[in-house]
Amino acid sequence: MQQERSNFTNKLGFVLAAAGSAVGLGNIWRFPYLAAKYGGGTFLLIYLILAVTFGFSLMIAEIAIGRKTGLSAIGAFQSLDKRFGFLGILASAVPIIIFPYYSVIGGWVLKYFAVFISGNMTTSAADDYFPSFISGAFEPLGWFALFLGATAIIVLFGVEKGIEKVSKILMPLLVVLTLFVAVYGLTIDGAMDGLAYYLKPHMADVSAKTILAAMGQLFYSMSLAMGIMITYGSYMKKDNNLESSVRQIEIFDTGVAFLAGLMIIPAVFAFSGGDRSQLSAGPGLMFMTLPKVFNSMKFGGVVGTLFFILVFFAALTSAISLMETIVSIFMDKLHWQRRGTCIFVFVLALIMGIPSSLGFGPLSFISWMGMSVLDIMDFVSNSVLMPIVAFFTCIFVGFILKPKTVADEVKEGGAKFGAEKMFTVVIKWIAPIFLVLILASSIASALGLFTI
Ligand code: PHE
Repeated sequence: MQQERSNFTNKLGFVLAAAGSAVGLGNIWRFPYLAAKYGGGTFLLIYLILAVTFGFSLMIAEIAIGRKTGLSAIGAFQSLDKRFGFLGILASAVPIIIFPYYSVIGGWVLKYFAVFISGNMTTSAADDYFPSFISGAFEPLGWFALFLGATAIIVLFGVEKGIEKVSKILMPLLVVLTLFVAVYGLTIDGAMDGLAYYLKPHMADVSAKTILAAMGQLFYSMSLAMGIMITYGSYMKKDNNLESSVRQIEIFDTGVAFLAGLMIIPAVFAFSGGDRSQLSAGPGLMFMTLPKVFNSMKFGGVVGTLFFILVFFAALTSAISLMETIVSIFMDKLHWQRRGTCIFVFVLALIMGIPSSLGFGPLSFISWMGMSVLDIMDFVSNSVLMPIVAFFTCIFVGFILKPKTVADEVKEGGAKFGAEKMFTVVIKWIAPIFLVLILASSIASALGLFTI
């Protein structure tokens, strides 16, 4: 049965498909603004440590569960243990929350692509350009609907494969271009201070909030704790090496995020003339900083246009995997037809995304702990739901399914599992204890019990 379900002809195909889902706005838009906000080098270091321990272990577990059962999240947990069926449902809620606001940001990317291709780069480099764009009503909504519509059409007509083929060429191009822009950015006066901020950890900056932000980012960026990797695993062949696949996906995903930070954070320093307040700009950071970089560059208009179209493709492949997941959840659970489900999910995401899109303008009065609607969605999915899903996944794998079952799956076909010991300890003890502590502190701070 499992072999029949296999869709990826070889290991490279699997790694690239998973990387296509993993590499997206999370790496290019989200990582840099979080790193800028949460202490630069401190955030980077915490992120890297979490990636090679937590991220690695969780991704191994999810892909192994998928490959073992040949099912996606809801079915997979249920088939392994009835009591854990709820976990699949909880995991499914995550992409439903993320997809709408992900498309709002995707819309911003499209807008900047349009600005650059129409030769209006210089206007977009002005300080108030981005704030005035997102505080509008119809314009951001229109771009959001366009991004969502593009994603929906691709999923509806089932032409993802074509997009994936194209993006296999475009993604490496994005990496090269990001590296180029980063190196260029470092030559601007003042950028070196930014580089130091980005690379040097300061232990005084370590806080529960920083760790929680890094962990949420890890889940988000690697498409973990929402069942997606389980689905991908269900399509993976038994004789593909699971451990080395996970390593490669991680290296690729983390590499792109690192480069994006390198491209954006030093530039913030260079253009703010030492004023650090921009560092906490949040979701708008990339859109405020990059036009300035391109504007200061020879042929910046061309480079910028190319950059935004490549980011658009990276975002599109991730959005497709988000929407596919949601569509298959509804189809599996409610036995709906594919076509109708696609239309339903499109309309649902459109309705759910409107408040996020308007949250910087007409709905800016809605705010909770200083967060806009989009930030609230982001917080609920990344800092609350995903840690909960991750916690139960660890408990499930550590104590019900047992790490050995996962290890056996990894070793299928005579493969080695070099990090088996670490995996066992992390999934059974370190990760769950850590997750409880982090969650408790985040909930406490959300309730205003104390500030972290
Ligand atoms: N990992 C993607 C990114 O970094 C976002 C994503 C999350 C995509 C979940 C699919 C599923 O942009």
